Amino acid sequence: MTSTIDPETRLGRLVRENPEFAPVFESLGIDYCCGGDVALERACEESDLQLESVLERLEDARSADPAETTPESLSALVDDVVETHHDYLRDELPSLERVVRKVARVHGDGHPELREIESEFLDLREEVTHHIADEEENVFPELVALDGAESLAPDDEERIREAVDHLESEHDAAASGLERIWALSDDYAVPDDACTSYRNMLDRLQMLEEDMHLHVHKENNVLFPEAEELLAAE
Ligand SMILES: [Fe+2]
Ligand SMILES: [Fe+2]
Repeated sequence: MTSTIDPETRLGRLVRENPEFAPVFESLGIDYCCGGDVALERACEESDLQLESVLERLEDARSADPAETTPESLSALVDDVVETHHDYLRDELPSLERVVRKVARVHGDGHPELREIESEFLDLREEVTHHIADEEENVFPELVALDGAESLAPDDEERIREAVDHLESEHDAAASGLERIWALSDDYAVPDDACTSYRNMLDRLQMLEEDMHLHVHKENNVLFPEAEELLAAE
C-alpha cells in the first residue's frame, strides 16, 4: 500500500493534523506528546517498529475515523484543554487517590510495588494539581490575550516564553512519573489475586496516562506553537 503520510513528518504535527492517530501511537508505545518533535521514521527506528506496518495502521485509522478538526483560535484551544482535560483531572484525581491509598493499604504486603505506586501517584497528583491551576490562572490568560494584541513589551514576551518553557519541563516530569507507575505496575497487568478495587485502580491509572498524553500533546504541539507564532509576529 502506498501511504500519503510523509515519514519525515514530526509526530506532534501528525497528531495535530490527524487526531485519530493518537490511539495508534498510544497502543504502539510511541511518545507523540513530550516526544512530539521526533520524525515518524526515527520514532519507528527507536522503538524497533517497521515503518511500513505503522504507516498501514495510521492509514487504517484515518479511513475508519476521519479527523475532527482541531479548534484553531487560542481561546478555543484553551477552552478545549480546560473542559476536556483539566475538568477530568479535577474530578478524577481525588477519587482515584482514595482507591490508590486503599489498594496499597489492603494489598501492600503481598504486592510491595503498590506502596511505590501510591507514593508516585501522590507526588504526581500534587504536581499536576498545581500545574493546571498555574496554567488557568497565570499562563493561559496571557496566551489568549496574544490573539489580537497590538504589541508587547520585550519583557512580557520573555516572561511568556519562560512560563511556557517551565510548563513544558513540568510536562516532562509528569510523563516520567506516569512512566514509573506504568513500569511498577508492569504495564497495568492484573495479578491473579486482584480484587475489584485493584482492577479499577489499574484501569483508571491507564486512562489517566492516556488522557495525559493527549492533554500534553495539545499543549506542547498545538497551543504553545500557535502562541509562539503570535509572539514571533509581534
Ligand atoms: Fe494543561
Ligand atoms: Fe500543561
